[in-house]
Amino acid sequence: MLSSWLLVACGPSQEPPENSSLTLLHPNNPSSDTETYQTENDFDLLVSDYESTQRVIWQKPDLVIAQLGDLSGKTVADIGAGTGYFAFRLVPRAERVIAIDIDQRFINFMDSIKVRLPENVQDRFETRLGKPEDPLLKPSEADVVMLVNTYCFLENRIQYLKTLATGMKNEGELLIIDFKKNNLPVGPPTELKVSTAQVKAELEQAGFKVKKTDNQSLDYQYIIVATLQKPTNKIN
Ligand SMILES: C[S@@+](CC[C@H](N)C(=O)[O-])C[C@H]1O[C@@H](n2cnc3c(N)ncnc32)[C@H](O)[C@@H]1O
Repeated sequence: MLSSWLLVACGPSQEPPENSSLTLLHPNNPSSDTETYQTENDFDLLVSDYESTQRVIWQKPDLVIAQLGDLSGKTVADIGAGTGYFAFRLVPRAERVIAIDIDQRFINFMDSIKVRLPENVQDRFETRLGKPEDPLLKPSEADVVMLVNTYCFLENRIQYLKTLATGMKNEGELLIIDFKKNNLPVGPPTELKVSTAQVKAELEQAGFKVKKTDNQSLDYQYIIVATLQKPTNKIN
């Protein structure tokens, strides 16, 4: 029995079909073969995978969110938000959360949860359909940006990061979490994973400064925190 990438770590909460592929990539990955594509498009399976109750054991969401420090008064954008696994956990801590995804089904899913939240929480939580090449943040809109289990799916990453930078405030923080480039019981195939060295090089090329690389806190994933120093326009 092959299982999806988030299910594998702790045993599946819902058995995937007998012939499903080993990894659930993001649903629109054009490089997927037909079998993978069909599995990826089983939306219910993606949701149960991302929201598996056992995920907390290795994903350690509280530890991840603690990396972001005090979020009061801040706008946080969660790019590649999926089911809102992190975005919903951020709302009690931040002034505003923007949950961005390129898949309308995840936007609809998060909206269906949002309407059940208290009104004062709903007002601070926004879903946004992004584009593959642009998260569609407004200029200097976000203080903090998260990319969790999503960086390896971005195409033209350096250009993407430059576009993202325009939507971030000066000295804004970017947190990237993705799977270590080893053979692991969870995560996409090794060839799809992006090494920490590559992430760091791409961040620097896009104008970010890497502040922290943590390979220890999470068993399967690295945490990279980068800051953005926007060039100042000198007026003589
Ligand atoms: C593996 S899921 C991770 C979801 C969530 N961050 C989590 O950890 O549970 C990757 C998500 O990224 C989204 N995605 C892929 N490419 C994207 C892009 N260019 N911009 C925004 N979202 C993207 C997919 O639709 C999918 O929801």
